[in-house]
Amino acid sequence: MMAADLIVGIQWGDEGKGKIVDLLAQEYNIVCRYQGGHNAGHTIVVGGKKIALHLIPSGILNPKAVNIIGNGVVVSPEALIEEMKQFDDLDGRLLISDKAHLIFSYHAQIDQAKERMRGKKAIGTTGRGIGPAYADKVSRQGHRVGELKDTKKLQAKIEEYFAINEPYFKALGVEKPDSEQLRKELEFYRDALMPYVIDATNYLWDILELGEHKILLEGAQGTMLDIDHGTYPYVTSSNTIAAGACTGLGLSPKDIGKVIGIAKAYCTRVGNGPFPTEEFGLEGDKLRQQGHEFGTTTGRPRRCGWFDAVAAKYASRINGCDEMAIMKLDVLDGFEKIKVASAYEYEGDRIDYVPSDLENVTPIYIEFDGWESVKGVRKWDDLPVEAKQYIEALEELTQTKIAIISTSPDREDTIVKN
Ligand code: GDP
Ligand code: IMO
Ligand code: MG
Repeated sequence: MMAADLIVGIQWGDEGKGKIVDLLAQEYNIVCRYQGGHNAGHTIVVGGKKIALHLIPSGILNPKAVNIIGNGVVVSPEALIEEMKQFDDLDGRLLISDKAHLIFSYHAQIDQAKERMRGKKAIGTTGRGIGPAYADKVSRQGHRVGELKDTKKLQAKIEEYFAINEPYFKALGVEKPDSEQLRKELEFYRDALMPYVIDATNYLWDILELGEHKILLEGAQGTMLDIDHGTYPYVTSSNTIAAGACTGLGLSPKDIGKVIGIAKAYCTRVGNGPFPTEEFGLEGDKLRQQGHEFGTTTGRPRRCGWFDAVAAKYASRINGCDEMAIMKLDVLDGFEKIKVASAYEYEGDRIDYVPSDLENVTPIYIEFDGWESVKGVRKWDDLPVEAKQYIEALEELTQTKIAIISTSPDREDTIVKN
């Protein structure tokens, strides 16, 4: 039987997964999202033209690829319908699992109200309602995409949900949707989305059994934002790691083939929470400027810092990465010295693992010589010697083979080693 290959972020998101999924999707015919929602933002550049995706898998730019939104994704029908408008040929190219949970506007209201109440301790969520939607799923009061089939029944269920949760919603200042408006909304969502809804798990099993098509699984966010293995509570509300692809699509661990971890040549994080290698001074500003580190989804400036090899090694292990892609190497152009965290100091000791209280570590750095420019380089041999040394050191420190190096946002500006 065939296996499905997997792309996963190994830092705090925004590693450049979209670019790699788009690049690989030229040879994969099925691309699946397995978790997250429209908190994700993936920018893809082809021939200088930019496209931003949030919910639709990044395989959509290959006209031959079928793109699947799996059961583990939380789907805002409003956001999805808006995103679908960018494409006029989605028939047969977009499929949505009937088991994926729905995000409604009240989830976003809850998300934002709770963030306001947390004040200084806010998580810095995208405010899209991701956490509340997953919370409803886990507390068995969610609503699923397949329920759009019978909007009358779904509406009654949503109204019952509001009745049960009334005191909670009142305390948060979240308003009950108007009945007539809700009816219209649900019918609109049904008409727009039901043609795409399928039993995605059975579909994938058939594809795997047939063995004629290559499947690519696209993780959103990153390992350090994983609900179990990230920097809790400063995380997103899903299992972003490779294992999430099994629950989020209905695949068994044996269905997973090659795992490719995506990392930037440095680190960024958007939102609050521990980030050991963060640079607060001029070097952080330079990374942000050169890397255009402003969020695709919320436009927020991203926090920037050096590559954290301890966290990357941890992520490589937890995802079972066969290979890594190192993105945005060109952003380090012109730095005289480049730092990498090779270990942490923690409770007076030197450690090389990720403790559950990452806020209490201090990075121990090693320094590398910089280079002038790698922008647009497409061959390993054309890289300056310092850049080669840097990549080889990352391989060594993370104990993971680096198979892809990216040197500009454009699909073509990519080094594929060997
Ligand atoms: P994702 O969420 O992991 O898909 O990543 P994002 O799309 O949020 O952020 C990555 C950003 O970096 C996007 O704007 C990409 O166009 C851009 N990008 C990707 N690879 C490279 C690269 O090698 N060099 C530069 N300069 N930009 C890149
Ligand atoms: P992609 O797929 C970077 C972050 C938010 C916040 C935390 C929780 O583009 O890499 P949430 O709205 O999910 O409840 O917010 O997670 N976050 C991301 N950071 N890239 C993302 O997605 C993210 N999606 C969520 O900033 O810190
Ligand atoms: Mg992103």
